[in-house]
Amino acid sequence: MSQSKEQWGSRLGIILAVAGSAVGLGNFLRFPGLAAQNGGGAFMVPYFCALLFLGIPICWAEWTMGKYGGQFGFNSCPAIFGVLGRRPIWRYLGVLGLVIPVVIYMYYVYIESWCLQYSFNYLFGSINLGSDPTHYVQRSKEFFTSVTGDDADGVMLGSSLHQSVIFWAITFAVNFYFIYRGLSKGIEAFCTWAMPIMGLAAIVVLVRVLTLGTPNPDLPNQNVMNGLGFMWNPKPKVAGGSWWQPLLNADVWMAAAGQIFFTLSVGFGVIINYASYLKRKDDVVLSGLTASATNEFFEVCLGGLITIPAAFVFLGAIGTEGSSFQVGFKTLPVVFQYMPGGRFFGAIWFFMLFLAAITSSLSMLQPAIAFLEEGLKIGRKASVALLGLVTALGSFFVIWFSKGLAALDTMDFWVGTAMIFVLAMVQVFLFSWSFGVKKGVRFAHIGAEMKLPRWFPFVIKYVTPTYLTAVFVMWCTNNLGGYLSQLKQGGVPLLSVCVIATVLVFFLILIKIAGPRWGAESKDTSTDTSAFPVIAEGKS
Ligand code: PHE
Repeated sequence: MSQSKEQWGSRLGIILAVAGSAVGLGNFLRFPGLAAQNGGGAFMVPYFCALLFLGIPICWAEWTMGKYGGQFGFNSCPAIFGVLGRRPIWRYLGVLGLVIPVVIYMYYVYIESWCLQYSFNYLFGSINLGSDPTHYVQRSKEFFTSVTGDDADGVMLGSSLHQSVIFWAITFAVNFYFIYRGLSKGIEAFCTWAMPIMGLAAIVVLVRVLTLGTPNPDLPNQNVMNGLGFMWNPKPKVAGGSWWQPLLNADVWMAAAGQIFFTLSVGFGVIINYASYLKRKDDVVLSGLTASATNEFFEVCLGGLITIPAAFVFLGAIGTEGSSFQVGFKTLPVVFQYMPGGRFFGAIWFFMLFLAAITSSLSMLQPAIAFLEEGLKIGRKASVALLGLVTALGSFFVIWFSKGLAALDTMDFWVGTAMIFVLAMVQVFLFSWSFGVKKGVRFAHIGAEMKLPRWFPFVIKYVTPTYLTAVFVMWCTNNLGGYLSQLKQGGVPLLSVCVIATVLVFFLILIKIAGPRWGAESKDTSTDTSAFPVIAEGKS
């Protein structure tokens, strides 16, 4: 049995790395907006159901499968799926664990660079919304447009070098620098620093928001308590209904499930890769739970108490409306403009978002790096260069077609929303039916600091797949039609889907090349019972 060369430096290191992947823009921007729009406190019912029946069980399954694959020296999703499922088809299904993180990286890194650019501009005073409050909203929108280029295609990559492209290049380079440094010297070292700094920065901003009181005495209702109430009191989705109405709405359940996947980095092929660098005796049960719990702290306790209450206090209910981008990048600058010390807090806030995003985007690159290294047997330098080229091309595409952020939105829909459900289903099926829950649980328990709960086998085998299928079918019925007809009209959405398809085919071809070699490697070990520690240990 071969052991992979790379390893995590410490147990805390991998927990912080997984938590770093999980804590990202989803926690601070996506979650608060979704919760406020989908029933406030009432949203937490489907949210916690999804956490309990989808997020945590699949997370444990991913940690276990990853560690298992790692015992054969494999780190990439296709190879690990191949060794777990034993049929070549699984290798090909593993392509999802490459396409998803790589495509998400292409647009995520662009958003990440906005955060850096905003922070920089706060620091050096170039975000100036003027002195007339009636112009704040307009000015903030204009700034957003100047950063993102959402008014026309091609503006960012025009003749002169645009500031946004410089920030994008810096962000891109920083990511690849840490990836190049390797697992423990790059990702782990960075997350070990970034996570505490992030937590601290978020708490500083939180304290500022919670001590705002009633900034405008003429509007006594716009105070912190009401801001928190606005976010957290259970409320109907449409005015006039009763608070429990959102619970009967399929869209709310889908939004909650999608958020749980997105925020925990479950269903992306990321955790499987990270866990594959564990040693046989390393714990996965408590570590998985700790990383998820850390993420929930950042999401509910920090993310949930900052953006929406702050927007409410200064701008009232209307300030909380709109997409997560709208609130994060257009409304919050207005809030910081009103806030005493706003420039300082704006700089901290956006820098914190940048750190949160970078610890996530690193985790999107590592799966493909691992795949290129073990699939093509090329070294670190060559893999980094190849992946850098592929993702830079994709990222250019996103930056070029920036009008209405059309390319970004389409990729986020097909990959960041639809495909992750598919990968989650594949993983659940692989773990519980093909590999076998019993075997899985026994393997998970090797070196575990805590036993999996008794309900786990039943849930992962029956409840999770049923829940997942129900949500996915509902989601397809409600959303797919609209997006498919959008594709028929051609243009940027169709082009974006072509980009995704190209990445898919690219990786499929590489799997075809690498597959037979892996087949031989895993066959060698399959006759050796020690390669299946699960059986040996389970009986003892
Ligand atoms: N979990 C991250 C967030 O909340 C997003 C992410 C997606 C991270 C895919 C890794 C892989 O923003």
